[in-house]
Amino acid sequence: MQSAAIFENLPYYTNRNGKGNGMQIGKLVLLYALWAFAATSFFTVFILYSPNPFSNFMFKQRYPLTKNTNLSALILENDTTLPHQNPFKSNPATIINHKKESNDEKIKCDLFEGKWIPDLYGPMYTNWSCPLIPDSRNCPKFGRENVDYMNWRWMPNECELPRFDAKTFLSTVRGKKLAFIGDSLARNQMDSLLCLLSQGETPKDVYTDDLDRYRTFYFPSHDFTLMAYWTTHLTFSEAKKVNGSKTAMFDIHLDKIDVNWAQKLPTLDYAVISIGQWFNRKNYLYEGGKVIGCIYCDEPDVPNLGFPLAVGKAMGKALEYINDCQECRGLFTLARTFSPSHFEYGTWNEGGKCNRTSPYTEKQDEYDFQLEVRKSQVKAFEKIKKIRDGKRFEILDITRAMLMRPDGHPDINWYHKYLQGHTDCIHWCLPGPVDVWNELLLAVLQNKDGNSMAQTQLK
Ligand SMILES: *[C@@H]1O[C@H](CO)[C@@H](O)[C@H](O)[C@H]1NC(C)=O
Ligand SMILES: *[C@@H]1O[C@H](CO)[C@@H](O)[C@H](O)[C@H]1NC(C)=O
Ligand SMILES: *[C@@H]1O[C@H](CO)[C@@H](O)[C@H](O)[C@H]1NC(C)=O
Ligand SMILES: *[C@@H]1O[C@H](CO)[C@@H](O)[C@H](O)[C@H]1NC(C)=O
Ligand SMILES: *[C@@H]1O[C@H](CO)[C@@H](O)[C@H](O)[C@H]1NC(C)=O
Repeated sequence: MQSAAIFENLPYYTNRNGKGNGMQIGKLVLLYALWAFAATSFFTVFILYSPNPFSNFMFKQRYPLTKNTNLSALILENDTTLPHQNPFKSNPATIINHKKESNDEKIKCDLFEGKWIPDLYGPMYTNWSCPLIPDSRNCPKFGRENVDYMNWRWMPNECELPRFDAKTFLSTVRGKKLAFIGDSLARNQMDSLLCLLSQGETPKDVYTDDLDRYRTFYFPSHDFTLMAYWTTHLTFSEAKKVNGSKTAMFDIHLDKIDVNWAQKLPTLDYAVISIGQWFNRKNYLYEGGKVIGCIYCDEPDVPNLGFPLAVGKAMGKALEYINDCQECRGLFTLARTFSPSHFEYGTWNEGGKCNRTSPYTEKQDEYDFQLEVRKSQVKAFEKIKKIRDGKRFEILDITRAMLMRPDGHPDINWYHKYLQGHTDCIHWCLPGPVDVWNELLLAVLQNKDGNSMAQTQLK
């Protein structure tokens, strides 16, 4: 059973009265013109009077998180069109200069609560500038016509999340090894990061296994190694056998770690761990070698413990394992929360689809089953933060942001030689909203003093 998104379509844009703004192209054009003029003047003055203008804004102003300005609010309130053409594309300094005053402030901010706003710059790469996009995520190539989903950026409520910058990321991880550990959604994030980074340096394809589940890329100029390690449940699991033949169900041992990834941990500097969708089916759960319950079963003697609880337990076990790992000194672990799916009009195998063309523009307060999965993972994370033993743990709490993006999945617009014939409302198109996971990753990696910034609230 896949849970379809149950929250309602929110109006495309709502103003304070809750009414749609309607088209105000005239006003908009005027606004852009005034803004462009002011910004250009400011930029000229900036260049003329600043001793070293470019080094300043490129390397210092760009990266610290800055408070949201009214500029963003203004775009959100009065821009009723998507910015297919960015009037400022030739002048990247305009927006950055605007918030020069707040440059040096250190801001405490929950990066993971916010909203999506139109992105004046458009996507950070295309299927031309990144040849590494797999066909299964290259949505425009397979018939996706409306590409508005590429033109949004994430705006946390309290601060500005900087646009991804390949050079900054690469210098942050110079000499290090980072692995995405998880299923095909972990791989989705790695593919996004590869595209983002390849705008700064072309990676070398170093290793792949037969099934393309373990993958290694290397960035020679920065001595940076980027890897994917496949695991479906983080904990040990095997396909359930019934009468001697394998089924689609799993026996998941929630108290045993999956050694395939665990044995590789000591070589890593950063591990981004995640799980989710593989729990979302009929599975049997074990502890101490005994069945303790199941997911989606209906048997008198086996308690149905549910998908969220199982995911939380497995995530908790993985985090504990890492915390206890003696050979993993210096390892920095990021727990990426559940990536939600958006099947509407049916489940994945019953005609479900995801054909929306814009995000939900407000945080939806309605109950969504998928938030329970996140909650269970956040609990496991909070627990390890309390007992952690020297190691660093942070969270990449993307669930709520991604719940607002029913428009970012491949739907029917993808290709894979072995997997065909269904709609994909689970993975994410590249480029697309999944790129924000790596903007958040960079923001968290850059936050040297640890605990303050990437706070999250259990709600
Ligand atoms: C933003 O606008 C509000 C009013 O809409 C004002 O109270 C506030 O001071 C402004 N903030 C900045 C940073 O200019
Ligand atoms: C945005 O549009 C509203 C009308 O919908 C108008 O009252 C308001 O002044 C506009 N804001 C700005 C900053 O132009
Ligand atoms: C890129 O996308 C366009 C559609 O926007 C498609 O026609 C083209 O084949 C794609 N190119 C590659 C190299 O994927
Ligand atoms: C397994 O075998 C038993 C006995 O032959 C049979 O009753 C049962 O239906 C089989 N189960 C499945 C799922 O085939
Ligand atoms: C999405 O699909 C539904 C059901 O087929 C259809 O009614 C709706 O118009 C479609 N929406 C878009 C934006 O194409």
